[in-house]
Amino acid sequence: MTKFDTTIIGSGPGGYVAAIRCAQLGMQTAIIERYPTLGGTCLNVGCIPSKALLDSSEHFYNANCHFEAHGIMAEKIKLNWPRMRQRKDDVVVQTCDGIKYLMKKNKIKVISGHASFSDSKTISVSGTNGSKETVNTERVIIATGSKPSSIPGVIIDKKRIITSTEALNLEKVPEKLIVIGGGVIGLELGSVFSRLGSKVQVVEFLDRLISGMDFSLAKEVQRFLKKQGLEFFLNHTVQSTVVEGESVKVVAKNKKDKEVEFSGDYCLVAVGRRPFTDNLGLEKISLTLDDKGRIPVNEHLETAVPGIYAIGDVVAGDMLAHKAEEEGVFVAETIAGQKPHLNYKAIPGVLYTWPEAAGVGFTEDELKAENYNYKTGNFPFKALGRARASMDTDGFAKVSGRQGY
Ligand code: FAD
Ligand code: NAI
Repeated sequence: MTKFDTTIIGSGPGGYVAAIRCAQLGMQTAIIERYPTLGGTCLNVGCIPSKALLDSSEHFYNANCHFEAHGIMAEKIKLNWPRMRQRKDDVVVQTCDGIKYLMKKNKIKVISGHASFSDSKTISVSGTNGSKETVNTERVIIATGSKPSSIPGVIIDKKRIITSTEALNLEKVPEKLIVIGGGVIGLELGSVFSRLGSKVQVVEFLDRLISGMDFSLAKEVQRFLKKQGLEFFLNHTVQSTVVEGESVKVVAKNKKDKEVEFSGDYCLVAVGRRPFTDNLGLEKISLTLDDKGRIPVNEHLETAVPGIYAIGDVVAGDMLAHKAEEEGVFVAETIAGQKPHLNYKAIPGVLYTWPEAAGVGFTEDELKAENYNYKTGNFPFKALGRARASMDTDGFAKVSGRQGY
């Protein structure tokens, strides 16, 4: 049995990047993954497939709605959904294979199966074929990621009431898609299907969309997505969902406490994700979770058990691939005795609709809440010749700055 310096549980952007950095810094490194392919949520059922469909659907939308204005007369444009899905799957396979190659190149031992702690230096791995393996290790980095969450009254059957994972793989484009949640997944996948011809209705509990981003940006996003055909029902709290044959009924209560009913052929539940620590054996190392199910860590991303670290979606902070990656590098360098630096405010967030919406640093709302003396500057794209040239006049660039900085 080999003993490793560092073992990483989970091969998503947090895990695989941590593994590469550990190996580069001279550690004997292993990575354990319960799924047959490496890359985690992001590469298999998250960032990469969603971005592939966003790009394809944008081409389709532009061909249908914008080419004529550019003087391009394209006739009989037809959607080949199976082909579009296949291209997305090809991109996923190539990207996941790339991670396999990187593990080999960096001499990282890949162990296939579900990892569970026996004690702080011993991990038991159960393979899908019933095999068992024991891994001895000096240190562990937990990078087990997250899973879609739901809300009371909504039972995800993965057929009609679906998460992003199923939405990326639907057999046909929905005629009417109800989206619960006006966050990043709801708006990105809502955009994809709206561009492909679905009638998309977004039911959101708050009085705004994309709650982590600047409020004026959220309003602008709502404005241009409405122009593209999406319908928004803000201040609506979903009470229940019912599947009746091939249709789904969603009942919500609006601000006036009145029941509003929505019906569609699919309902996408996009109300956030929960940290994933199922059957990880945390009780064997006396690690307890916080009230949101996350693994508590200190400023070095080390848990209460010395030598066991946690990164990515399974710890507090934004659930973003590049945040998980930064944390992976940070922990590897910390273990190697370096003094790395991580500035969470320098990590941007992007909504990949068209136009895209992105932000970094403090939002104006945060500056206001903190009582900072600040100024904002805003430049609308419609005043920009370059934007007019490409017919991209929706949106703006906004800077909010603290005075004296
Ligand atoms: P994950 O990627 O979730 O990886 C965790 C891995 O650990 C999984 O492979 C899992 O199988 C494995 N695992 C769990 N438990 C065990 C165990 N006990 N034993 C062995 N293996 C285990 N983020 C962005 O920054 N940009 C985007 O555009 C973006 N788009 C997204 C689109 C969608 C539809 C979704 C769902 C997410 C998107 N995200 C995006 C978020 C991004 O995917 C996550 O933030 C990121 O994947 C988190 O990385 P991670 O390494 O923490 O965990
Ligand atoms: P989210 O947190 O972005 O949005 C969830 C939305 O659901 C919120 O607006 C919330 O108010 C709403 N909601 C909650 N309960 C509700 C209810 N009962 N009724 C109606 N609405 C309700 O979560 P989402 O979109 O599921 O994404 C999960 C994670 O995946 C995000 O944290 C994000 O970081 C990551 N992601 C990132 C992407 C990117 O970076 N471009 C793309 C997709 C996902």
